Amino acid sequence: MHSIDFYRDELVRYMTATIDPEEPKNLYAPVTYIMGLGGKRLRPVLTLMATEIFGADYREALPAALAVEVFHNFSLVHDDIMDGAPLRRGKKTVHEKWDVNTGILSGDVMLIQAYQLFENYHGETFRELAKLFSSTAIQVCEGQQYDVDFETRDDVTLPEYLKMIEYKTAVLVAAALKMGGIVAGASAEAQQGIYDFGCNLGLAFQLQDDYLDAFGDAATFGKQIGGDIIENKKTYLYLKALEMGDAQQAKALRDLFSIQPQDASEKIAAVKELFLDTRSAKATQEAIAAYTEKAFQVLGTLDIAEEKREVLRQFGEQLMRRKV
Ligand code: IPE
Ligand code: IPE
Ligand code: MG
Ligand code: MG
Ligand code: MG
Repeated sequence: MHSIDFYRDELVRYMTATIDPEEPKNLYAPVTYIMGLGGKRLRPVLTLMATEIFGADYREALPAALAVEVFHNFSLVHDDIMDGAPLRRGKKTVHEKWDVNTGILSGDVMLIQAYQLFENYHGETFRELAKLFSSTAIQVCEGQQYDVDFETRDDVTLPEYLKMIEYKTAVLVAAALKMGGIVAGASAEAQQGIYDFGCNLGLAFQLQDDYLDAFGDAATFGKQIGGDIIENKKTYLYLKALEMGDAQQAKALRDLFSIQPQDASEKIAAVKELFLDTRSAKATQEAIAAYTEKAFQVLGTLDIAEEKREVLRQFGEQLMRRKV
């Protein structure tokens, strides 16, 4: 096993050597831009780590790892259009720097590039990777649609929210890990185990993303703080505040989520106060810890060497403490 930094550097090296088309500029410059802005690159690192955990050379998994990261970036470019987001990784979003049409088509081409990377595999490995990738990508689209549908619904339940984040976020984290298992030829049981670990970690990850969207620091988080509040996103913070608040607080929150003021700063401040006063902010942090713990429980059942389990555990703990 290597360090997280090592896997990340190898991924970037492979990416630079692999994805470098030039013309037409307005199609590919946004691809280079968004991929170059970096981000944590946690999904491809998980693919490479899982490959080595199951006994193969990480280099065999580089195309699959890059495919996952390119797909992730495609989903972000389109997500930022859908969420009206101005900032990504501390810089302008693609549709702000160029325009919406550019964001749509550059996103599309990234989705195809992701598929194309699986052409590096053959036989049963290719079939299994492509199958997992397709079903995961469809779930991500379904999750994204639920996310948007929920903006205008006022009767969203916690189970509905959890299904939505499982689809839009957790399944890709899970699939990234399982791909390592596929490349390494791990048993079906091991593949399912690492998938379940990733799914729980992914749920914790999205809960944390929701938390940081309201309570993070713009300088480190790299996204507009309060973006979810502006868009009336039915996050865990929001749903728990409705559940835990008294009738007056719940009404105040519902009222705030029915308006779209020109200047959102007052709305954001008032909603955050309700998240704190109802203790939904605290409940969200507890849920993050609980899903991370659940992921660790699943990890404990995997038939892998103790030192490898420890690497995944540390990765999970770092994610839980993240500010970015
Ligand atoms: C952002 O993902 C979208 C979510 C699923 C929350 P990341 O937080 O992994 O974004 P980057 O790639 O590190 O920028
Ligand atoms: C995005 O969820 C999930 C996908 C991109 C599929 P968010 O909308 O919360 O992600 P951020 O916060 O913009 O990164
Ligand atoms: Mg978004
Ligand atoms: Mg979104
Ligand atoms: Mg978010």
